[in-house]
Amino acid sequence: MDARAKTGVSIRSAAKRYGPVIALDDVSLDIEPGEFVSLLGPSGSGKTTLLGILGGFVQPSSGSVWVGERDITFAPPHKRNIGIVFQNYALFPHMTVGENVAFPLRARRDPKAGWAAKVADALAMVELSGYEARGISQLSGGQRQRVALARAMVFEPQLILMDEPLSALDKQLRETMQIELRRLHRKLGATIVYVTHDQREALTMSDRVAVLKNGKLVQIDTPERLYDRPCDAFVASFIGEATLLHVSRAGDDAVRLGDAVLRTAHPLPRGERLLLAVQTEKLVIDAGPAEPAANRLSCRVTEVLYQGESLRVFATLADGTSISLRQPGNHNARSRIPSPGEQMTVVLDPQDTIVVPA
Ligand SMILES: Nc1ncnc2c1ncn2[C@@H]1O[C@H](COP(=O)(O)OP(=O)(O)OP(=O)(O)O)[C@@H](O)[C@H]1O
Ligand SMILES: [Mg+2]
Repeated sequence: MDARAKTGVSIRSAAKRYGPVIALDDVSLDIEPGEFVSLLGPSGSGKTTLLGILGGFVQPSSGSVWVGERDITFAPPHKRNIGIVFQNYALFPHMTVGENVAFPLRARRDPKAGWAAKVADALAMVELSGYEARGISQLSGGQRQRVALARAMVFEPQLILMDEPLSALDKQLRETMQIELRRLHRKLGATIVYVTHDQREALTMSDRVAVLKNGKLVQIDTPERLYDRPCDAFVASFIGEATLLHVSRAGDDAVRLGDAVLRTAHPLPRGERLLLAVQTEKLVIDAGPAEPAANRLSCRVTEVLYQGESLRVFATLADGTSISLRQPGNHNARSRIPSPGEQMTVVLDPQDTIVVPA
C-alpha cells in the first residue's frame, strides 16, 4: 500500500473535442498522492470526460496524463492500475458478491490461489465480511455501493475514480456513505478522484474541489477557500447559498450597495461591473455594539421561514434590493427572531465581503 500512497496524478493541458463540441477545454490539474479531489460542476461541464481521460476510456484530443513519472495518456484502462466505481455501480447481476469483487483479479490474471484472501480483505474494508455467496439482488442499495467499492479496491490500485457513486441513494444513506467513504480514504491512503454535481457532498468529502464549467476548470481549492473566496460569480452561485448583488466601486477597498458603503478585506477585481457574493449565514443581525470595522446594512424584514435547524430571513434594503440571511433556529441561541415588517441592521465582516467580477 506504500507504493500507491506515493503516486500523484497530473493532467496537462487536456482537451477533448467531439466534432464541434468542446467537452474539455485545456484543463491542467495536479493531484497530490493520497489526495481526495472532487470534480464539481453542472451537467455537461466535462466531469465524466475528465474522469474518462484519467481512466483511459476517453482519448484526449490533446494534452497528457501522468501517474507519478509515467505518461499514461495512451495506456489502455486495464494497464493503468486504476480502480473505478461507475455511477450505477455496474455490478454483474448474475454473479455473487464474491465473484463480482474477484472480477478485476481475474481480468488482471492475478494468481488464483490468492483471490479468496484478497476478496475477503476488500469486503472487510467495506464492512461486508462473509457476504461472498450473496446474490447482488439480495443486497440493499448501500450494500451494492460497498460491493462496487470493494471491487474497485481489491487489486490495490494507486488511484480510484468514482463517478457520482452515491447519486442513486436516498439522502440518509448518502450521508452515511459520505462519512464512510471519507473514513475509507483515510484508511487506504489511495488517491481518489470523485465526480459529483452536489456541492455539499464535494465540500464534505474532499481535500480539494475542482469546479468545472463548459469544459473549463474554473477554480480548484480547499472546501474552505472555495466557500470563503470564490473566484467568480459562477463559483459563488454554485457553492453554498450565496446571494449576488450588483455593487459599484467606492475606492480601493470598498464598494457601494445602494446607500451603504461596504469595506472589503480583499483586493477588488478589475473592471467596473462588480458583484457582492454573500453567503446567507455571513450576514448577522446586529445585536448591539459590534466590531466598529464591520459593515452595516439597514433593511426591512419581508419574510421569515422556519426551516428546522435554522430560519431563513428575507429583507429589503432602502433601494429595494433583496437580501437573505440565515439565523440559528435554536430558541436557546442568543439571536433574536425578527418579524416581518421590522426594521433591522445586519452586519457583514469585511473578511466576508467578497466581490467578484460581474
Ligand atoms: N461521445 C460523445 N459525443 C459527443 N459529445 C459528447 C460525448 N460525450 C460527452 N459529450 C459532450 O461533452 C460535454 C461534457 O460531457 P460530460 O459527460 O463530460 O459532462 P458531465 O459533466 O459528466 O455531465 P453530467 O453531470 O450530466 O454527467 C457535454 O456537452 C456532452 O454532451
Ligand atoms: Mg457525467
